[in-house]
Amino acid sequence: MQDLAETAKALVAEGKGILAADESTGTIKKRLDSIGVESTEDTRRAYRELLFTTEGAEEYISGVILYDETIRQSAADGTPFPKLLESKGIIPGIKVDQGAKPLALAEGETITEGLDGLRERLAEYRELGARFAKWRATYSIEPDKPSEYCVWTNAHALARYAALCQEAGIVPIVEPEVLQDGTHTIEQSRKATGRVLQALYTELHDQRIDFTGTLLKPNMVLSGYEASDRAGVDEVAETTLECFYKHVPAAVPGIVFLSGGQTDEDATAHLNAMNARGPHPWQLSFSYGRALQAPALKAWEGKPENVEAAQRAYYHRAKMNGAARTGMYAPEMEREAAPV
Ligand code: 13P
Repeated sequence: MQDLAETAKALVAEGKGILAADESTGTIKKRLDSIGVESTEDTRRAYRELLFTTEGAEEYISGVILYDETIRQSAADGTPFPKLLESKGIIPGIKVDQGAKPLALAEGETITEGLDGLRERLAEYRELGARFAKWRATYSIEPDKPSEYCVWTNAHALARYAALCQEAGIVPIVEPEVLQDGTHTIEQSRKATGRVLQALYTELHDQRIDFTGTLLKPNMVLSGYEASDRAGVDEVAETTLECFYKHVPAAVPGIVFLSGGQTDEDATAHLNAMNARGPHPWQLSFSYGRALQAPALKAWEGKPENVEAAQRAYYHRAKMNGAARTGMYAPEMEREAAPV
């Protein structure tokens, strides 16, 4: 368990956070479609290579979450991606859930699948270099949702996943994502997020998880993206912190937020505002997908001549989020340090 705690701590080392590059084949197709690039094994590989070879990203990036296809792929020079990342001091991780599927007898709610055969898959991923893993459960906010049924079945599955990871010597990142779409108030989000976290830590405890060898990847507590009167940065920071102080044990070394459809700059500003109110019992960091990648994807357009511009855009976002780790980010830095 000592190794697990060390890996978890390294993933939330000062000034650093995680790049989520574990989009499933369906999700990465949507991202590539948005820039007019056909999704093939090779375009997906080329895009991930661009990210992983960005010089200096390791100053701000501690780990990268890979997908099953990606962990088996190599850079153009033949270096397997996990080896390439390790050579830069970046820890390779792997998404192991098999997606959120309709929860039986619960209209509009989901249960995340992927437990069958997980012990064997984890053993193989460890051989391939993975030192941490991710499992994402999703919950919607509506007057009657999330239901207790959805909250507890997903908590149970997250804990079963976490136990198998720790047995395999892999740090589990547990990701309960309360989706922030819709018109809900920040108070409704706080209530749903608290409920989900309370159930999750009950199950993790009951299934014998060593919290020191885990990380939590949650949503921030926000007003719904379509709400008319949305909470500002200070209210988001204070409400999110109040919720986490109440529900997340201090033995957890780090909370690595997902961006979940916030703009890149909002995701950075919110993280910064929380860290500015520190110190906290846990490191507060990032494990962003879209909020780290969006400008790079746009700059790339699938063209080799744009690789450098795309890498500059990714490096810039990593640097801004690195600053937000210590509460030293300011929106002016976007302009001053903007990639040319
Ligand atoms: P976003 O930051 O784009 O929400 O992605 C993080 C992630 O890994 C979702 O599972």
